[in-house]
Amino acid sequence: MERTAVLFVLLSFCITSLALECRVVPGRLKQIDVSNGQVFGVNSSNHIYTLYSNSWIQVPGSLKHVSVGPAGVWGVDFNNYVYKLGRGDWVFVPGLLKQVDAGGMVSPAGVNMNDDIYCLTGGQGSSWKHIPGKLKYHSCGPYSCWGVNAADNIYIMKGVTPTACGGSLNWQQISGALSMIEVSTDGKVYGVNSNGHVYRREGVSPSNAAGTVWRQVPSPQKVKHVSYDLGHLWLIGRDDSIMDCTE
Ligand SMILES: *[C@@H]1O[C@H](CO)[C@@H](O)[C@H](O)[C@H]1NC(C)=O
Repeated sequence: MERTAVLFVLLSFCITSLALECRVVPGRLKQIDVSNGQVFGVNSSNHIYTLYSNSWIQVPGSLKHVSVGPAGVWGVDFNNYVYKLGRGDWVFVPGLLKQVDAGGMVSPAGVNMNDDIYCLTGGQGSSWKHIPGKLKYHSCGPYSCWGVNAADNIYIMKGVTPTACGGSLNWQQISGALSMIEVSTDGKVYGVNSNGHVYRREGVSPSNAAGTVWRQVPSPQKVKHVSYDLGHLWLIGRDDSIMDCTE
């Protein structure tokens, strides 16, 4: 009995002390999104940046939230107008969103000022499809979308495919509380809670989209935003500092 207890303590210690190795990236951003090797972010003055050759290159325009993924590069501005990067310029897309996510296989998804949820159907000349529920933050991956509502409750929508942006249209609540959540292009799920702690969903796979448990990822400081791509976890600290981390 005692031995089991000691072993358990040792095991949990080992698990929680898996160090995150972080490199501080010069600059300040309030939000970042990474996918397929691309890095985009916006600063507190809504200026847009992309990382190239280890330097932040300013992209013309003004956005409060930017997202990069299989659906392209999308953003929303101060007035909740939606834009997509096309032929080297921001192209206005009808609709109003406060947050947009380009992580879906073909179409972006997002939420508006009233936490109503939408995804874009039908490629070009397409329209926003309303999805039931209320979310303040929404992020899609290759086979599921995740979101958090105003009370920090966490939800998953399964059955998302390139032709069914709304998936099953059925949100399933997941235990825990997070203030933002991001699904990576390869389906990994990371989030931040209201205390600035970072969590990863364990056991996520195409056959078990909801995964198993939340595991805290020990971060060097309190975090307000995360994004994951190609083995790198990007963290935005509460002071807008930028960290590029590997486990
Ligand atoms: C945001 O970026 C712009 C353009 O580089 C810069 O002038 C401004 O100082 C930045 N704002 C902050 C708060 O860093």
